[in-house]
Amino acid sequence: MTEQTLDPERQERFAERMLQVLNDSCLGYLCSLGHRTGLFDAMAGLPPSTSVRIAEATRLDERYVREWLGGMTVGGFIEYDPARSTYRLPPEHAASLVRAAGPGNLASSMQDLAMLGNVEDKVLDAFRRGGGVPYSAYPRFQELLAAETARVYDAVLVDTVVPLVPGLPERLSEGIDALDIGTGQGHAVNLLAASFPASQFLGVDISDTGIAAAREEAELLGLDNARFVVSDSAALSGTYDLITAFDVIHDLARPERTLSAVAGALRDDGVFLMGDIAASSKLEENIGHPLGPTLYTFSVFYCMTVSLGEGGAGLGTVWGKQRALQMLGEAGFDDVEVREVEGDILNVYYVARRRRR
Ligand SMILES: C[S@@+](CC[C@H](N)C(=O)[O-])C[C@H]1O[C@@H](n2cnc3c(N)ncnc32)[C@H](O)[C@@H]1O
Repeated sequence: MTEQTLDPERQERFAERMLQVLNDSCLGYLCSLGHRTGLFDAMAGLPPSTSVRIAEATRLDERYVREWLGGMTVGGFIEYDPARSTYRLPPEHAASLVRAAGPGNLASSMQDLAMLGNVEDKVLDAFRRGGGVPYSAYPRFQELLAAETARVYDAVLVDTVVPLVPGLPERLSEGIDALDIGTGQGHAVNLLAASFPASQFLGVDISDTGIAAAREEAELLGLDNARFVVSDSAALSGTYDLITAFDVIHDLARPERTLSAVAGALRDDGVFLMGDIAASSKLEENIGHPLGPTLYTFSVFYCMTVSLGEGGAGLGTVWGKQRALQMLGEAGFDDVEVREVEGDILNVYYVARRRRR
């Protein structure tokens, strides 16, 4: 860029924005610690308190707590009274920061930042040499994702998502065979199995730790209609009345093969319910998306990269609605409706059927 074309005000504004990005990114890390240490939860139940009192309440080291409180105070999360040396978490802020907020707890999501940061060297290497990063490089992924999606499933799966498919609650109550692919730690399956005891549920995933956690939860809940198997979704056996895939297809190495396998495993009146990221396949239509930068960041650091790591398609998190519809059509789904759930800005739900066989 030549000097004549430089707009100094624009330059100044952008430099300020960069400072804001730095500060906000750092606050994300402090939020993650606030969540993992239980500091937010504890402070929500305390009156304005000193760092000593807050450290006692959380059984944490006071020096660390005080430094964290400093960052949270200058970041505008926490109020500080210098006369009394007390800190207060306003209830309006707690509503987005505590475990009790359920899906409203955004502090929990900040744990992802450190997980992604952990693989930066490997991602950098992939930028230079191609390829990707293996699942094994993300040891906390299953646990973090499962905790995040579980909060959403608890809030909306049975009462809001299942009824997106006309007649599905009734069929599940009567008793059908259902399969969930890429089930992770299986919470969605266990919830459905508990709500619809007459139906049989199977969850499959390539992650043995995910499947082990899913089985453990099913046992804890005493479910005899939820089974879990380590298996690749690209090669399905059996036939089903309902197949679900929540936040899975765009991560896959071979998404086309999985979609064809799903189409082949559905019974005549079967339905495929696919929850996936709410975005457009056209970059220009994603400008202004409330989670736009987050989606592309997750794609670079995880979704696209694990798929490429297996020599796969690398669809990416933001493969988008148009591409999803095209691929569903190519797999044989000739009747697809796209449904949205109010309050869920992250996903859309594809209700897909094969009418012609
Ligand atoms: C983003 S996670 C979603 C997990 C779960 N559905 C949820 O909503 O919590 C994607 C899952 O797909 C699994 N996965 C990836 N490739 C797979 C494959 N080829 N077959 C089965 N599962 C696969 C991963 O192990 C991971 O658990």
